[in-house]
Amino acid sequence: MSNILVTGGCGFIGSHTTVSLLEAGYNVIVIDNLVNSSKKVLERIEKITKKNVKFYQEDLLDGKALNDIYEKEEITSVIHFAALKAVSESCEIPLVYFNNNITGTINLLKTMERNNVKSLVFSSSATVYGKPATVPISEDFPIAALTVSNPYGRTKIMIEDMLRDIYKADSTWNIALLRYFNPIGAHESGEIGENPNGIPNNLLPYVAKVAVGELECVNVYGDDYDTPDGTGVRDYIHVVDLAEGHIKALEKLKTNPGLVTYNLGTGTGYSVLEIIKNFEKACGKKIPYKIAERRKGDIDTCYANPEKARLELGFEAKRGIDKMCEDAWRWQSKNPKGYC
Ligand code: UD1
Repeated sequence: MSNILVTGGCGFIGSHTTVSLLEAGYNVIVIDNLVNSSKKVLERIEKITKKNVKFYQEDLLDGKALNDIYEKEEITSVIHFAALKAVSESCEIPLVYFNNNITGTINLLKTMERNNVKSLVFSSSATVYGKPATVPISEDFPIAALTVSNPYGRTKIMIEDMLRDIYKADSTWNIALLRYFNPIGAHESGEIGENPNGIPNNLLPYVAKVAVGELECVNVYGDDYDTPDGTGVRDYIHVVDLAEGHIKALEKLKTNPGLVTYNLGTGTGYSVLEIIKNFEKACGKKIPYKIAERRKGDIDTCYANPEKARLELGFEAKRGIDKMCEDAWRWQSKNPKGYC
């Protein structure tokens, strides 16, 4: 039986991936410092799966605590989600972001190496492509460090670079870099979902909070982009599809592929206005919105070429935009105040 260490397993993508892992028969050990998540997630995961999750409330900055966990548990592979991820905050406190995301990852990698666990799935982001020259975006597009406008995005590039160098030096590592497009939706039980602290930065949780009456009106950041309706186009992917992509990646690592890189997206783009319309359909309410200034650092259009993941992992997103909005709404309406 494989034991998977999931860092950041109480977060949005981490919790959904933990459910998929348990359902696929893996044992899961979660490490989370709960800085942006709640321990209640674990009860919900156990309710959905009727299985236990081992939990350590620890910080990856604490190398000793990490090593103690490795001594207690027989870990076979690691899925590494734990990170700070708010773009605008990362511009205000870059050092905190670099320390947390980079140092935390270095501690994790050192502990893995020391314990001879060299199988890793890393939670990367389509943000590493910066402003792509064309769409859809394939994995062989250049990493566009110069067009990534924020420290959060840079930490993803730096960690990818580190992992490529580590693999070059020691090819006994097996590493999957998964570049996520825009994960939204929630588990269809409505028990777990996205639960950002404070005012959401991302579109979907913002729209959901307007629908539930907690926020007044969606600010649409710009309607003069080079897109069919002028608003930004993104590749939204259901978080449960994304979670299943991690199971496929783990299966791939068992075949000793070395370092592999995959886009996890659907290949279809939706505009901000289309998302608002689809969410209105799902919740049966009008969502008030107004056109606002462009947000600094945003690009016109971003969507994946998902072919490589389909061919090499057998991964294909199955859940469409209706399901993404319905599930997000079920989670939001059942838990208007999140996990409390
Ligand atoms: C953002 C981050 C990206 C990160 C990803 C996942 C930026 C510039 N990029 O991607 O690095 O990996 O989240 O966390 O923040 N929008 C509105 N009103 C809102 C919020 C968003 O109109 O209140 C628009 C945006 O302009 C964009 C689209 O909705 O066109 C999606 O935005 P968002 O959900 O923040 O995701 P990204 O910007 O694609």
